[in-house]
Amino acid sequence: MREAPDPHALLKWYIEVGADEAMAEAPLDRFRAPVERAAALGGAAPTPVGRSPDRSLPPSSLPAGPRLVPAAPPGRIAPAAVAVEDTRALAAGCMDLAALRAAMESFEGSSLRETATRLVFADGNPAAPLMLIGEAPGADEDRQGKPFVGQSGQLLDRMLGAIGLDRTGVYIANVVPWRPPGNRKPTPAEISLLLPFLERHIELVAPRALLMVGAVAAGALLGTTEGITRIRGRWFDWRGIPALATYHPAYLLRQPAAKRDVWRDFLDLTKRLDSIP
Ligand code: URA
Repeated sequence: MREAPDPHALLKWYIEVGADEAMAEAPLDRFRAPVERAAALGGAAPTPVGRSPDRSLPPSSLPAGPRLVPAAPPGRIAPAAVAVEDTRALAAGCMDLAALRAAMESFEGSSLRETATRLVFADGNPAAPLMLIGEAPGADEDRQGKPFVGQSGQLLDRMLGAIGLDRTGVYIANVVPWRPPGNRKPTPAEISLLLPFLERHIELVAPRALLMVGAVAAGALLGTTEGITRIRGRWFDWRGIPALATYHPAYLLRQPAAKRDVWRDFLDLTKRLDSIP
């Protein structure tokens, strides 16, 4: 007979692989057959990709088809075979922020959504002259549904306060709107699939300036792989909008000496904002 696993060792292993938070009251066994899983959740049985459910068959006799994904309600895009062209078309059809948010809420093409608790769309004032782009929500953001509310967010708020800004004077979004499991970095594939949403987000807000905090934000918007230490403090042009790259507040928490550089960037940003009509 197999011995029951040591619960401490199991918990330690969960934390190491990034499963550091309970997402629901009851555990969900993702390895169980999808039909059983759907029944456990009290929902409808999933539909094999590219087939309609054959209602004449009992669920257990559904043929083993290709990868099984949850059926998408009408108007939703299911996770299978979603390409960047699909996200681009979806984003391009959003004529205001409410429409963009709704499209992202119902978008099922990113696996990040499956492990996150909720969409973290944005925070702050969309009419503000400055739009700040971060990397991805962390655990606190995932819980509250707002970007930059954890430790880095508190530091960011203090830094913005030092140049006279609070969240009524800035608008904040992230490169990816769902928390990557265990706070890992979003992968290039995850970023490129979701980038059209961010691009449309910026177009709809049309800020006077962009502040890209960290290598992921700068890399995603500028399409560069140059390190953040090389590009920090430099202005770029993002589709006609001046965009400044600076360090991420999480980096400043680890390297407080770098705050001096960011302070310089913030002063430069203030000057630039004052000079843009
Ligand atoms: N880090 C980010 O890049 N974004 C957040 O929203 C929080 C932490």
